[in-house]
Amino acid sequence: MPIQTTSKIWHNGNLIPWEDANIHVMSHVIHYGSSVFEGIRCYGQPSGSAVFRLPEHMQRLLDSAKIYRMHIPFTLEELCAGVVDTIEANGVAPCYIRPIVLRGYGEIGVSPKGSPIEVYIANFPWGKYMPGGDGADVCISSWNRMAPNTLPALAKAGANYMNSQLIRMEADQNGYAEGIALDVNGLVSEGSGENIFVVRNGVLYTPPLANSALSGITRDSVLTLARHLGFTVIEQALPRELLYIADEVFFTGTAAEVSPIRSIDRIVIGEGKPGDVTRKIADEFFGIANGLKPDRFGWLTPVKVSAAEPVTV
Ligand SMILES: Cc1ncc(COP(=O)(O)O)c(C=O)c1O
Repeated sequence: MPIQTTSKIWHNGNLIPWEDANIHVMSHVIHYGSSVFEGIRCYGQPSGSAVFRLPEHMQRLLDSAKIYRMHIPFTLEELCAGVVDTIEANGVAPCYIRPIVLRGYGEIGVSPKGSPIEVYIANFPWGKYMPGGDGADVCISSWNRMAPNTLPALAKAGANYMNSQLIRMEADQNGYAEGIALDVNGLVSEGSGENIFVVRNGVLYTPPLANSALSGITRDSVLTLARHLGFTVIEQALPRELLYIADEVFFTGTAAEVSPIRSIDRIVIGEGKPGDVTRKIADEFFGIANGLKPDRFGWLTPVKVSAAEPVTV
């Protein structure tokens, strides 16, 4: 779906017109992939709208930048305020928010010294990412996630998404909704843009971050919700074949939210429809995000835009 434009984009502390948020083709980021970014959702509430886990996302942005020695000249509070200001200036909610920090126009050498840091925040409407219904038909990718100590998986860096694109394009090409990547040792890692959870005999499993997975904010939310619902949750390395014999498998992510998986490599998972554990966790997640259940973990930041309808139901 083409990006739906809005009116303003936040650039280094100021709101500028959407069409003026351009960079030069000789910018460092264009040649060397030097960017870190976030993806955040703002949900409709019974009265107004609210951003889901805004400080956690902006802290991850600061962390990603720190790994790449990018100095962001704004505090966590200023970045969070920038997101709220952008949404309110555009009057668009529910929406998806895309903060991005990049190395701009300066020098052409690989060394980023001499290329300025630019910070942008955009927001725009964006609906469901994964097919709904009974779940997505996905595959195991022939591409692995980045090996440890190559491209750091904990940094949400633009360059990592070249790997994600390989996974996603291969899945598309072969008629699947998404690909699940293994790590360099053949253990389950994550989707091209989602973390993964497995349910077997009532226990919830997810790979630890050391299996080259991003520290997903939705992953963290699901771990918290599952524990509060009384499920046993285990973060452990998962062999590929455990996916095929699981009772339930689902993806989590800001774009994908909580998305059940119906089949993997054409092997039907469980009964081929969302299982009880997935449904209970999804109900809690969407209930809180959409303001229909109490925000008992303090995950919502209100914004002053009245929402016509929630992004998800
Ligand atoms: C590679 C990858 N893994 C996991 C996730 C899920 O992270 P989050 O729940 O913070 O959106 C994303 C999306 O940001 C991602 O791109």
